Amino acid sequence: RRCFTLLGLESSADDTCAAVVTSEGRILSNVVVKQNQELAIYGGIHPYAAIQRHQQNMPGAIRQALDDAGLDMSSIDGIAYTRGPGIGGCLSVCSTAAKTLGATLNKPIFGVHHMQAHALTPLIPTLYAAHRTFTSAADAEQPQTPPQFPFLALLISGGHTLLLLARSPDEFTTLATTPDISIGNAFDHVARYLGLAPGERGYGAALEAFAAGAPASFTHGVDADVHDADEPDADAAVPDFAVPLRGQLAFSYGGPRSRVEIFVRERGGVERVPEATRRALARAFQAAAVRQLEEKTVLALRHCEGLGVRVQDVVVSGGVASNSYLRQRLRAGLNEAFPGTALNLVYPPPHLCTDNAVMVAWAGMHRFAAGDFDTYDASIRPKWRI
Ligand code: KG4
Ligand code: ZN
Repeated sequence: RRCFTLLGLESSADDTCAAVVTSEGRILSNVVVKQNQELAIYGGIHPYAAIQRHQQNMPGAIRQALDDAGLDMSSIDGIAYTRGPGIGGCLSVCSTAAKTLGATLNKPIFGVHHMQAHALTPLIPTLYAAHRTFTSAADAEQPQTPPQFPFLALLISGGHTLLLLARSPDEFTTLATTPDISIGNAFDHVARYLGLAPGERGYGAALEAFAAGAPASFTHGVDADVHDADEPDADAAVPDFAVPLRGQLAFSYGGPRSRVEIFVRERGGVERVPEATRRALARAFQAAAVRQLEEKTVLALRHCEGLGVRVQDVVVSGGVASNSYLRQRLRAGLNEAFPGTALNLVYPPPHLCTDNAVMVAWAGMHRFAAGDFDTYDASIRPKWRI
């Protein structure tokens, strides 16, 4: 079959993205314009500011993606864009860009589901070529082979906490989601409650490093009167984090987040909490957050077994998936729960775990091949069930 090339556009949250990808999975360009961090309001995205940035940045991102690919629009076969879910005004930027380009140049367009695009990323064949640079030290012993349908996808980021069953490129079932904040938000908030500075890699990574004992920088110091010696057994002093909604296929991170907040407040503020206790809190929170992922993933796999669906691959993606404690625990937890069955855990490379347009272009490929085009009047879908 002839090789074809799609332009992908993404603007569902805070990143403005454009990419060019071939049907063989060659990534010809991948442009991601991040928004100024100051635009992020506490725990979320400022919608109006985000829309303005997308409007400002999208045309330039498209130009850059074409230049990087060394192509002009006439040699692009179609345009895939994120149709939903996401912030309505933000979605309208990539949607209008895609539809206008498509209608003007008479090219087919494909409105794709953002979460399906995340889940399909590890099927890009070129990720498995000789180079394995994306395999972290923690799972270096694991052979990284592409997942096969049906597979499970655990999507964990600032925007999502989700378990999906992928049966084919366009048949997905949501197995678990969250009624409250995402796991990434919970990490971010807890890092702030503990007075951690975000550093280069953000709050989540700062919390992971702090829990592992790395030297930390604080935005809130420790009160001169407070010493680690005040808390001889820091681990015993911190609250016990039970896994919420035990036995249920649902996530919850609002409760564990609030336990940290309340603990710190009851101590009279983070300045009054000795460093050893802050670290114990970080460890306990992280361990419980990961235990919850582990338990729900095992539950989802058993649920699939119950449905008679044989799942052998688990895709783990999103910013939180870069946490190496999580990678170790998940491997160990799945081995314990399913001894003798070698579940294939697949982590996309970090730059394709976070929002990008490569995944959007890739999610449009099977629809291009099937001739399944959208019309130029297709509406956005801010709340789009999978
Ligand atoms: O996928 P992502 O980069 O962006 C969006 O959510 O759009 O995910 C970002 C989230 C943030 O909440 C960040 O704190 C979290 O992923 N994160 C981590 C780690 N690295 C990033 N959480 C825990 N441990 C990490 N090492
Ligand atoms: Zn996303």
